[in-house]
Amino acid sequence: MTVYRFPKDFFWGSASSGPQTEGRFNNDGKGDNIWDYWYRQEPDKFFNQVGPDKASYGYIHYKEDIQLMKKTGHNSFRTSIQWSRLIPDGVGSINQKAVAFYNDFIDELIANGIEPFINLYHFDMPVALQEEGGWLSRKTIDAYVYFAQTCFQLFGDRVKYWFTHNEPIVPAEGGYLYQFHYPNEQNLKHAVQVAFNEALASARAIEKYHQTQDGKIGIILNVTPTYPRDKNNPEDVKAASIADAFFNRSFLDPAIKGQFPKDLVTIIKELDMIPHHTAADLEVISKNTIDFLGVNYYQPRRVQAKEKAIGKTANQPMPEDYFDYYDMPGKKMNPYRGWEIYEKGIYDIMITIRDDYGNIPCFISENGMGVEGEERYVNKDGQIEDDYRIEFIKGHLRYLHQAIEEGANCLGYHLWTFMDNWSWTNAYKNRYGLIAVNLDKQGERTIKKSGYFFKELSKYNGFED
Ligand code: GAL
Repeated sequence: MTVYRFPKDFFWGSASSGPQTEGRFNNDGKGDNIWDYWYRQEPDKFFNQVGPDKASYGYIHYKEDIQLMKKTGHNSFRTSIQWSRLIPDGVGSINQKAVAFYNDFIDELIANGIEPFINLYHFDMPVALQEEGGWLSRKTIDAYVYFAQTCFQLFGDRVKYWFTHNEPIVPAEGGYLYQFHYPNEQNLKHAVQVAFNEALASARAIEKYHQTQDGKIGIILNVTPTYPRDKNNPEDVKAASIADAFFNRSFLDPAIKGQFPKDLVTIIKELDMIPHHTAADLEVISKNTIDFLGVNYYQPRRVQAKEKAIGKTANQPMPEDYFDYYDMPGKKMNPYRGWEIYEKGIYDIMITIRDDYGNIPCFISENGMGVEGEERYVNKDGQIEDDYRIEFIKGHLRYLHQAIEEGANCLGYHLWTFMDNWSWTNAYKNRYGLIAVNLDKQGERTIKKSGYFFKELSKYNGFED
């Protein structure tokens, strides 16, 4: 039998976000964000036409939810403050009902022994700002810094772990390359500008935070370990390195090292797509790096050299002009999400952070398995027996444990997610929660088998098998 015991005070918990859980209710004062807007415009884009309006009724059930967090072993929990709830127009007046709601949420977490981890931006641009260009516009950066400062002032006395963004590459790639976020463009120049502006906004928020507050502030990045088809083939290795520059180092480097990766800058220069910026911007980025890193890990990226010569794959330049995807035979798949499951990836990320990023303190901020049709697994007592999720978690934790034994500075593990929630255009297609949510019954909650497993995991600070 092997015992996997984690370091003292390890953070066990889960992650979610405001826009995916809260919903929107009469007189709550929330303004529109791009999801509210897009859903009204094109409901067909959303799985079963389910929009963000009800989400998981978290705005109503949060007290009960916090009791369920306790029952499932949480000592920490991440959510985000919805910008459009707190400041309905993105800039200007503050919604006092939002202040009361987030105050109560935070107080209730703390009263129940659950450390709040609060993220500022989780894909939810207020519409009023999107109309002015969203992340393409410097106005948005200023508005975001004001939003960040407002949050620090209102909640910073109790919240000691802050994050500037969740997966900032996703608004850039989803909104401006691969068309799964509003505004659905395909325009690499715009994607690069958006990414730069998000990195700058993050650094400026960090600057303000360190001037006025005494907790820690970081960023949450989806790190996708990139593997060449053949590690002995220099062309495959080069292709993998370029993909890594586009999708991982593009944000890891400015966040941790204060500068952008040179190989990526060279490519962007060749494309004549260097974003608008000033020397002062670069200085802000170089001086305001993160205190700690959240790592979201779901799947690896497998890459091979381009079969055809490097050239445009679309009417726009795309990252895929520099590499091809490699469909590795025999890989383990989560068929519902179409994502590969590769547990060792979590170890490889931790070793990269240890060796290439100064072993900065980090934690797993998301990892999880979305499954469609989980009703199939309901037992006679009404509980979902999600053994596959328990295996998924253990499989990743074994490798995380190994990385920690080898010196990785990992402080915790947060699962995506606490309760089934609204997943953007996939809506409620794939369920990820420790707790099932019944949308037909006003969001009624039931703990899944994995929820009880998680309680034990946290209680023993590990597991045996
Ligand atoms: C992540 C994202 C979450 C959630 C999750 C599962 O990329 O941060 O918001 O949607 O994927 O699909």
